[in-house]
Amino acid sequence: CGIVGYIGSRAAQDVLLSGLSKLEYRGYDSAGVAVGDGACINVRKKAGKLANLAGDLEAAPLGGTFGIGHTRWATHGLPNDTNSHPHTTEDGKIVLVHNGIIENYLTLKEGLLSRGHTFKSDTDSEVVAHLIEEAYAGNLEEAVRAALAQVRGAYALVVTHVDHREIVAARTVSPLVMGVGEGEMFLASDVPALLAYTRRMVFLMDGDMVILSDDGYRITDLQGNLVQRDVDLIEWDAEAAEKGGYDTYMLKEIYEQPQALTNTLLGRLRDEKGEVDLDIDLDPRSFKRISIVACGTAYYAGLVGEYLIEQLARIPVEVDVASEYRYRNPLVGENTLAIAVSQSGETIDTLEAMREAKKGGAQTLGVINAKGSSMTRELDSTLYIHAGPEIGVASTKAYTSMVSAFLMLALWLGRTRGTLSDKEGAELLHAARELPRLVEEALKPERVARIKEVAEKYAHASDYLFLGRGVNSPTAFEGALKLKEISYIHAEAYAAGEMKHGPIALIDEKLPVAVIATESRLLEKTISNVQEVRARAGKVILFLSDGDEENAQHGDDVVYLPRAHEMVSPVVNAVAMQLLAYFTASALGKDVDKPRNLAKSVTVE
Ligand code: G6P
Repeated sequence: CGIVGYIGSRAAQDVLLSGLSKLEYRGYDSAGVAVGDGACINVRKKAGKLANLAGDLEAAPLGGTFGIGHTRWATHGLPNDTNSHPHTTEDGKIVLVHNGIIENYLTLKEGLLSRGHTFKSDTDSEVVAHLIEEAYAGNLEEAVRAALAQVRGAYALVVTHVDHREIVAARTVSPLVMGVGEGEMFLASDVPALLAYTRRMVFLMDGDMVILSDDGYRITDLQGNLVQRDVDLIEWDAEAAEKGGYDTYMLKEIYEQPQALTNTLLGRLRDEKGEVDLDIDLDPRSFKRISIVACGTAYYAGLVGEYLIEQLARIPVEVDVASEYRYRNPLVGENTLAIAVSQSGETIDTLEAMREAKKGGAQTLGVINAKGSSMTRELDSTLYIHAGPEIGVASTKAYTSMVSAFLMLALWLGRTRGTLSDKEGAELLHAARELPRLVEEALKPERVARIKEVAEKYAHASDYLFLGRGVNSPTAFEGALKLKEISYIHAEAYAAGEMKHGPIALIDEKLPVAVIATESRLLEKTISNVQEVRARAGKVILFLSDGDEENAQHGDDVVYLPRAHEMVSPVVNAVAMQLLAYFTASALGKDVDKPRNLAKSVTVE
């Protein structure tokens, strides 16, 4: 999950350890370094905390002035010493660290095995070291390029070879920055790792390769053509750097969503066959009903999940808040699949509810972010959402990744149980694949500025109402929850059609009503509900799909959102809800990252 590289005149071991310690906030389960001293490259790696590795290196230091380091968050293979990075070839000449996922590693590994390579670890990363070895004919840069031509997936890759005093790195999807020093060069997955040494940094782009030596650096594309990149002067202090230059973790995490979604979907959508590969140990025909349990934001992701699974896979689903499920003597049996949804994997209400389901004989599955968390250890299988560490207490990127994970789960169930045609499957797969791009579009400066403007206009309201229908009624609930959590404005959400049965009594000219009215089968019905609000002088903030000019007349304020397939629209629309809450809370001067009374992970009942 974290990478550091160094070449210069300092003791490399110290630079690597200090850099890795600044990346600890990203989460990891093992760490390692490789240091070159001219004659050989020595590797040291350890499962567990960085302190384990540091202790080891203190007792027996590795001398040398260039090297690479890594903290790992397991994706393929258990978190143990062997699976930790750096990885080396059998002769120890090529040493490599990698972040990301190599999607076609199994096919590549089979080829390498048949050509006589042997592997030490179970990781996808080691495969790349062998590919480089195979392509190597005296020039490391060319060998890395030839290896990457065979690789599909996401990577930040940093490689050294014992015969060269140079470091070759490349990135696609996974982040990598280069630090430019005086007579020394640095690499890292994030700025904070390097701030102690240099403030001059180059943010490498997708498809960039970089070659570092004592003489400086050269950037090329994957074909070997030279590429120019600006050197930025970073003026952030250490704390701002951890926030990626954003004012808060929450805003950083909102903006990380295109990347988080890419990671959630990565390697799971099989375009060729229109199929979804979730790598979960579950027979999709072995259950007749599904129970989803979760708390807070994860519960709302579960409500979207219910909608998607029932629509696409035609399996009855019920969703419960975990604290209720646990004590209501739920009806479970072998033909029940119980699904826990949790960012932390530690929420005690959810964990206990799942224990209850297990006791009743249910099969269990987790939709979870945190690797190695209690739930992932106790449940039968886990579908990781791969959103990366989430620090802001109010959940943002974990929510949209959870919803996307449910979309894939629904697709998988629909396809394997035969309720979803090839054509519908392909259409939805395409819609899922579009999500990172759509969310990136939703985060364009002019769109964000519009939401900020609306948020500030209503920031002094004492109450808010959120309305949505169908697959977007949970979006309304999540919008209200986000606003409550960080701005402390009282907010309620209702399914739009239900509003007339009660909450309509609350409407007057002081009440802002946020309505999700993006393209859907039920749009006309939602607009009728909007008219009911306006007839009572409520202030309507209307969220419409791009190009819907006809309905703009029904809003006091209109926010346009990128057009998305109805089934994936909750992901795109949630981003607007997050920004509305964020800018309201900021306008009121609230501490958005640490809202009063809330905890990121609640391990008491
Ligand atoms: C806490 C947090 C919420 C979160 C909920 C569930 O209450 O404040 O933001 O949604 O726990 O957390 P989990 O880690 O299980 O998703």
